[in-house]
Amino acid sequence: MCSRTPSLDRTSTTLPGGSSRAGANPPCNRVPKLRAIRAPCALPWSGDFAGELTVPAEAAATVQLNGQMRAIQIAELEGPQAAKVVEIDEPAENAAGDDTVIVDVHAAGVAFPDALQSRGLYQYKPAMPYTPGAEIAGVVRSAPDGAHVAPGDRVAGLTMLCGAMAEVVALQSERLFKLPDSVSFEAGAGLLFNDLTVHFALRTRGRLRDGETVLVHGAAGGIGTSTLRLARPFGASRVIAVVSSEDKVGVARAAGADDVVLADGFKDAVKELTGGRGVDIVVDPVGGDRFTDSLRSLAPGGRLLVVGFTGGEIPTIKVNRLLLNNVDAVGVGWGAWTLSHPGYLQQQWAELEPLLASGAVPAPEPVVYPLERAAEAIASLEDRTAKGKVVVVLR
Ligand SMILES: NC(=O)c1ccc[n+]([C@@H]2O[C@H](COP(=O)([O-])OP(=O)(O)OC[C@H]3O[C@@H](n4cnc5c(N)ncnc54)[C@H](OP(=O)(O)O)[C@@H]3O)[C@@H](O)[C@H]2O)c1
Repeated sequence: MCSRTPSLDRTSTTLPGGSSRAGANPPCNRVPKLRAIRAPCALPWSGDFAGELTVPAEAAATVQLNGQMRAIQIAELEGPQAAKVVEIDEPAENAAGDDTVIVDVHAAGVAFPDALQSRGLYQYKPAMPYTPGAEIAGVVRSAPDGAHVAPGDRVAGLTMLCGAMAEVVALQSERLFKLPDSVSFEAGAGLLFNDLTVHFALRTRGRLRDGETVLVHGAAGGIGTSTLRLARPFGASRVIAVVSSEDKVGVARAAGADDVVLADGFKDAVKELTGGRGVDIVVDPVGGDRFTDSLRSLAPGGRLLVVGFTGGEIPTIKVNRLLLNNVDAVGVGWGAWTLSHPGYLQQQWAELEPLLASGAVPAPEPVVYPLERAAEAIASLEDRTAKGKVVVVLR
């Protein structure tokens, strides 16, 4: 019973070889009651981390088929190794409704939910078989008159939780963003999902002010490196990275960390680095047993931003800690926010794009896998060997 309950990248188990990953066999008393959702990819749906999903009835009537394309497909929920290259139909020209833009995909981003979905452990469950991947970069093949993108434009786009690892995707124009010429397709495929989440986390939810100090857990991962790239351009004066092992220190430094500390004993290291004051913001995509020490690492008025739970269980807070130290624990649910705030994605891009174009925010430098090795790419997030953002290239 419990293993079939939808979970939110939040449980951990030990794998053969001793490494650790999120997901399998969550203890019954810790499984959140989340609604399991099954829906097709590459149709005019909208999804988010809270599991909301709508599939208009007319989507099923979409019949106009084009040529064939290569794509990754997962037909069995057996983990990343189930990801295979297949030939399937290209999306129909109206697959995302009247506002459909067809994009020839050059690269697709890999994120932690891809690994969880491949085992059926994420709360958003696409109809089987499905194509993984939440974000793409490529060139517009066709767009409706009046759209803000036109054939030939270089774009990044959000498929949001599945459908990205295919040579052609159909997206509503509001989910596409023109890429600055200076940003490669590989970098472009690796920036929207994390950078827009981190923008939302630091600016909207975290209320980052000029001169503040930011600490980020999982600093060599996707959200982590994004935080390291963005925090200083957004006003932080110092960014402290937390990583689990020495071999990730260089990745965090290259992404912009001022200081890098190991997860083991990070509270004391942060205390020393900040002269006992603590940090103003903790960005936490890891959760688990670090949470209380993260709260203890906050300066008065500090904010702990809850982004994800790659490390294990969903932590609980004794709220007297918030009261005694005048600190906040703040939820960061970017996907849900974009659904309840129409136009927010484009507003975010209007802020971020000039920073990327000018180089004030450096583009990500992802680890690149060919499409044929997509299974390995997804597995590298599950087995924690990924260093920085991971993308797969399609052409
Ligand atoms: N709230 C939102 O709106 C939102 C949006 C996007 C993503 N997210 C969430 O953010 C989290 C991070 O996503 P991501 O794509 O950045 O993942 P990622 O690239 O795999 O990075 C996650 C990091 O977590 C750390 N980690 C600690 N324990 C781990 C474990 N048991 N297994 C795997 N990693 C572990 C690893 O760093 P160390 O080895 O150094 O500890 C790893 O680098 C996910 O939970 C994702 O769902 C949330």
